[in-house]
Amino acid sequence: MKSSNITWHDSKVTKEDRQNQKKHKSPVLWFTGLSGSGKSTLSVEVEKALFELNIHSYRLDGDNVRHGLNNNLGFSPEDRTENIRRVSEVAKLMNDAGILTLTAFISPYRNDRNSARDRFEDGEFIEIYTKCSLDEAEKRDPKGLYKKARSGEIKGFTGIDAPYEEPENAELTIETDKLSLEDSVRQVIAYLQEKKYI
Ligand code: ADX
Repeated sequence: MKSSNITWHDSKVTKEDRQNQKKHKSPVLWFTGLSGSGKSTLSVEVEKALFELNIHSYRLDGDNVRHGLNNNLGFSPEDRTENIRRVSEVAKLMNDAGILTLTAFISPYRNDRNSARDRFEDGEFIEIYTKCSLDEAEKRDPKGLYKKARSGEIKGFTGIDAPYEEPENAELTIETDKLSLEDSVRQVIAYLQEKKYI
């Protein structure tokens, strides 16, 4: 830590005040999975469904955040760790602001996801594994990146020559190569309703 001589200033408005005003909780829905496994597609649809239910939510997406806040980070293990650290800190700010956040990052390392989880209070970090075989993700190849990884044009691509560590205790696992998009959205919304987040 380089920061020193800094003092925390409390607000007069608390997270609970904001949640009460909005009439819903503000957890983070942490989507994790291979590139092409459906994180972005599913989170976009869940965000839309939440909006229609009058839930204040916001989506942070790997490809988008890497255009701005994280445009100085690449795909080395260290840079991915820093990517996830920053994003989880942003999600934590949103959590305090009373906004439900959806994040869609490969977040391939279990340690990084667990460190992200540790930033939140119990129950506020909901890990959602978009489970999809590498075969199927590679068949979909929506951005043509698997093809480039196979030909050696991209090095250190997740699933090809960089690891993806599967979640061991995700709150939800959505098998995107078996379920329809509509059913996947329903499963996430049902979870949030059952557990009284919304
Ligand atoms: S993470 O590993 O740090 O969590 P993140 O989700 O932000 O990754 O970004 C992944 C996206 O970056 C992929 O969907 C893909 O479009 C692009 N990308 C470019 N190079 C790589 C790579 N080497 N490995 C994985 N994704 C890559």
